[in-house]
Amino acid sequence: MIAAESSKNSGVAVNKIMGSTLEQLSAQFSKALTAAFGPEFSETDPILGVASNPRFGDYQVNVALPLAKQLGQPPRQIAEKIVQNLSVDDLCEVPTIAGPGFINLTLKPSYLEDRLQSMQGDERLSVAVAAPPQKVVVDFSSPNIAKEMHVGHLRSTIIGDCIARVLEFQGHDVLRLNHVGDWGTQFGMLITYLREAYPSALTTSDALDIGDLVAFYKQSKLRFDADPEFQEASGQAVVKLQAGDQETLQAWQLLCDQSRREFDKIYQRLDIHLTERGESFYNPHLAAVIADLKETGLLVEDQGAQCVFLEGFTNKDGDPQPLIVQKSNGGYNYATTDLAALRYRIGQDSAQRIIYITDAGQANHFAQVFQVARRAGWIPDGVEIVHVPFGVVQGEDGKKLKTRSGETVRLRDLLDEAIASARSDLEQRIQAEERTETPEFIDEVARVVGMGAVKYADLSQNRTSNYIFSYDKMLALQGNTAPYLIYAYVRVQGISRKGNIDFSQQSQIDIQLNEEAELVLAKHLIQLGDVLDQVAAELLPNRLCLYLFELSQKYNQFYDRCPVLSSEEPARTSRLALCDLTAQTLKLGLSLLGIDVVERM
Ligand code: ARG
Repeated sequence: MIAAESSKNSGVAVNKIMGSTLEQLSAQFSKALTAAFGPEFSETDPILGVASNPRFGDYQVNVALPLAKQLGQPPRQIAEKIVQNLSVDDLCEVPTIAGPGFINLTLKPSYLEDRLQSMQGDERLSVAVAAPPQKVVVDFSSPNIAKEMHVGHLRSTIIGDCIARVLEFQGHDVLRLNHVGDWGTQFGMLITYLREAYPSALTTSDALDIGDLVAFYKQSKLRFDADPEFQEASGQAVVKLQAGDQETLQAWQLLCDQSRREFDKIYQRLDIHLTERGESFYNPHLAAVIADLKETGLLVEDQGAQCVFLEGFTNKDGDPQPLIVQKSNGGYNYATTDLAALRYRIGQDSAQRIIYITDAGQANHFAQVFQVARRAGWIPDGVEIVHVPFGVVQGEDGKKLKTRSGETVRLRDLLDEAIASARSDLEQRIQAEERTETPEFIDEVARVVGMGAVKYADLSQNRTSNYIFSYDKMLALQGNTAPYLIYAYVRVQGISRKGNIDFSQQSQIDIQLNEEAELVLAKHLIQLGDVLDQVAAELLPNRLCLYLFELSQKYNQFYDRCPVLSSEEPARTSRLALCDLTAQTLKLGLSLLGIDVVERM
């Protein structure tokens, strides 16, 4: 945690601001609970949160109700005892008790002024660094070699990148892993097919483009399903690959390189950075998974396959369902690889938290893998393993997103179209406003807005629900969209610029909050750190989107009601400082969503 110092308004010479407002309040409530009811209550959750209705204040504490049951006293009396022992004078007006025993807190303007001042000139905007930082693995994107990267992978990429950015900003040590599907049966099929159809693809690089590769993959799959001899040959090719046969390995490498080049183009456009550690990486560790499962006594042979019978998963006859970890032909599968990966991440990477981002369709796979790892004793206390599922991307018809001709949408086409639409909106606006702009300006704005729109459309939804992909909606200048927020930033910056004060060079601007709209904006501005804590805990990026959207709305109300440039000093500078903090918060918040801003649009 970082301490910011400030020395005005509160009447205290040096007022150390430690941690976020929620953290400070929470610490004071723990003290009050201890003083009122004894040390055994020091860990009691005060049930503290932002007030649902601003009429009741800014924060609300609800602990009196459950405590009443526990202690057999009327809840109002409990609330009174807590308040008597509470010392929050620096932060709040005198707490009030409402209804059966809710404690309502309203922040003091002087406290808000101090906090905002400590944000000035601080690029972290007073957001504390996590202490202690954790080692976190975020497993995301993870497309499959020789197959098209589809919108599901796009969702994983966008959500995973945002989660990684938030955790990195908090100071955690994040390993961004791309668990690409680069091993297994598909290569046997593909190599066998290419040997016949296009042998040079197996020996020279650049012989295929990704479109060809995907087409060959589809053809090889058809052959595989129809032709037992081909199946047999494919199986042999996999065995050769896994045994390290030089020629097969070289062919495999070429195919992987080809796909990788294509994936990298998408990552580059989206500004995504990942460490590739595909399934093949864990190949040397698979045998040990089986051996160790055997040792723990969990491994059972069932119809020639090695498996672990699961708890809580049954087949349609009601019998316990097995998780196969080695097929009867000796081959390993997706689950075996994930078990090996989990062990590697805990053992070698020393991960304390492992986050997997895939569509909800893989929820069972992860629940099963986690269960087996836990029962085998591979997950030490304090290590958190979590699957972060997301819903399906649908077309405007509500069905799974497809092109007009019914094909899966290629990601590069999707990104191209987003940028093209953003460009055409921009060009229309430029024309209507009779502006002249350079081609470079148009390129840059179209790129930032187009990419931002795609990302924001995804992140602003609760990830667990399906969402409808619509260029029109995501590019709208009104509503909870990226263009709206980028435009909000542009407008606020424009006002700041006209004010002609370089806030980055100043740390002690006198901020004075008198009007209601100023207070409302200030209360929102100081919540960034708490919102990021929430995003990091619940892994829900839409909370950050909503925070930014509400920020721009509160800013609009402030700007409507409080003249900025035309007001007298000291209000003018103070309000310009509020504008500047709003712009900085929008920019930082958007950057944590992976979205750039522009200075004009
Ligand atoms: N390659 C998989 C797919 O396309 C996703 C991998 C997710 N990560 C993992 N560790 N299983 O569905």
